[in-house]
Amino acid sequence: MQTSQRWLALLVGAFAIAAAAGGVERALAQAQAPTRAPDVHYQPTPHRVVTEMLKVAQVGANDVLYDLGCGDGRIVIAAVKQRGARGVCVDIDPQRIRESRANAERAGVAERIAFLEQDLFETDLRDATVVTLFLSPDLNLKLRPKLQRVLKPGTRVISYVHSMGDWKPQTVKRVKGASGPRKLYLWTIAADRGARP
Ligand SMILES: C[S@@+](CC[C@H](N)C(=O)[O-])C[C@H]1O[C@@H](n2cnc3c(N)ncnc32)[C@H](O)[C@@H]1O
Repeated sequence: MQTSQRWLALLVGAFAIAAAAGGVERALAQAQAPTRAPDVHYQPTPHRVVTEMLKVAQVGANDVLYDLGCGDGRIVIAAVKQRGARGVCVDIDPQRIRESRANAERAGVAERIAFLEQDLFETDLRDATVVTLFLSPDLNLKLRPKLQRVLKPGTRVISYVHSMGDWKPQTVKRVKGASGPRKLYLWTIAADRGARP
């Protein structure tokens, strides 16, 4: 092969490798991206508020706690570590699920937690006894019919910052948020499947 032909072959080879690498990068980016944009951005609940949430909802060893939009998993991890509960981390963002799993493994509690990368509106909540939320006023309202329909009577729903429209909370607790005073709202699903104060 002449020198010029060798150079041409090398150049073609280099282009092929770069194109393949681009394809791999695109595939990886797609695999890591949420299936659709999250409805609210990630913002963690301060750890001291998490502890308060678990106390207000009286989370115990018999509970199965679902955090809908679990971020880095801190609420579920704390429920397992501090209260002996089991838990389910649900987030639409794969990055958040990876963080949750890594944090739970680091904390030595991963075997008591299920990790679901999915839209919280698709989550099967039938075995939940506690549901925690830090979403938005609109999302809470959109979620209300599902909570009412599928949660067992006695299940506690606790929301950081946002209320549930005209669902009357049984407890409102003032807490210190990351940037000022905030509220925790607690409801319990009643036997008639409505939330009761
Ligand atoms: C404000 S953060 C709360 C994180 C965590 N619960 C906490 O209190 O530290 C909201 C989380 O909800 C997730 N999220 C937003 N829309 C969602 C959806 N439709 N389904 C599942 N997760 C969603 C976001 O990715 C984000 O991690």
